Amino acid sequence: MAIIPVALGERSYDILVTQGAIDQAVAHLAGFARNERLVVVTDDNVAAAQLPRLTRALQQGNIMVQPIILPSGEATKSWESLAKLADQLLDLGIERSDHIVALGGGVIGDLVGFAAAILKRGCQFIQIPTTLLAQVDSSVGGKTAINTRAGKNLIGAFHQPAFVLIDPSSLDTLPARELAAGYAEVVKYGLINNADFFAWCEANGPALIAGDMVARMTAIEKSVRAKAAIVGEDERETSGRRALLNLGHTFGHALEAETGFSSTLLHGEAVAAGMALAFRFSARMGHCSMEDAARVSTHLASVGLPHDLAGAHVSAPGEILVEHMLHDKKMAGGKLPFLLARGIGQTFLAKDVDLKDVAAFLDEETR
Ligand code: NAD
Ligand code: GLY
Repeated sequence: MAIIPVALGERSYDILVTQGAIDQAVAHLAGFARNERLVVVTDDNVAAAQLPRLTRALQQGNIMVQPIILPSGEATKSWESLAKLADQLLDLGIERSDHIVALGGGVIGDLVGFAAAILKRGCQFIQIPTTLLAQVDSSVGGKTAINTRAGKNLIGAFHQPAFVLIDPSSLDTLPARELAAGYAEVVKYGLINNADFFAWCEANGPALIAGDMVARMTAIEKSVRAKAAIVGEDERETSGRRALLNLGHTFGHALEAETGFSSTLLHGEAVAAGMALAFRFSARMGHCSMEDAARVSTHLASVGLPHDLAGAHVSAPGEILVEHMLHDKKMAGGKLPFLLARGIGQTFLAKDVDLKDVAAFLDEETR
């Protein structure tokens, strides 16, 4: 078991990582229930796979679960779902001191977190993430959001959860492709600032993907510690420290946009290909060695993740991909900051990248 604190003054909270945490939910969640009730928001897949476990566990402590089950998929992070969810929560008599439970992947966590941020000008929420991506990234750090016509995650708030309960065994029911996609975010922590952790990934990633429980637990714990440290230093992404977590996301965003934000390319898969591209672009610009860039691609390939445009099902010219990047919410003063690398574990924020160089590089990548 690991208890990882996120140190944010009065918004501090703990992240508990333990095998079987959902089955022991009474011990962890009873203190958050009001009138022996917890409202649990989830999606239809997770309702089938994990909600019965949680409900049974809480019943053992006479805590009733009031479930709200939403359709699974990215489309649920919408104004329409938010409005419906807010009405349902108000109908259930949610008060500011209540703790709404988000049981699911990043979609449920982001939507419920945003609903909690605005309901009654802010109430509490608890994350029980059930995808690897959510366990190592989205449930930690308080970024909440919905999507709009203009793009992904453009409406949202920083709103920290009161508690995060991570049960690695909940990944047993996760489709293999989703597990691999979430693993890209694990690799990201090694590439950002921890070369030893990247070497650990090289040695243990394939076993993790194949179901090794010790590797899974270690990866989650190390990733959460890494993210908690960065969030503790730069909660609102103002100093540039938290921006490091966006490694691979600018290239990845272009790939996701080109594939229509569809199941052709999952977010984590786009991040994987994006990180490989960021390293190869860094090598091309003379910042890092080709050997390091090749190591990144080799490792991603070893776990079945895409590491180039073809693997991401993208064949568009560089100019088109750069055009997608211009809609990225990180654009500032007409410039797009890029996360580049001087080597494995040495990511830095480059604010003066010439988009013509990016387009020429991507054209070479399509050949
Ligand atoms: P997701 O929530 O859509 O989950 C992926 C799929 O797995 C869904 O079909 C879901 O129903 C299913 N699922 C989830 N847990 C399951 C389980 N245990 N068993 C069986 N099926 C299960 O996707 P995701 O990859 O978890 O999250 C992606 C979202 O996270 C995106 O909207 C992205 O913008 C957001 N995100 C947010 C942050 C942040 O800091 N807030 C960071 C990264 C990503
Ligand atoms: N996933 C990026 C962040 O939380 O800042």
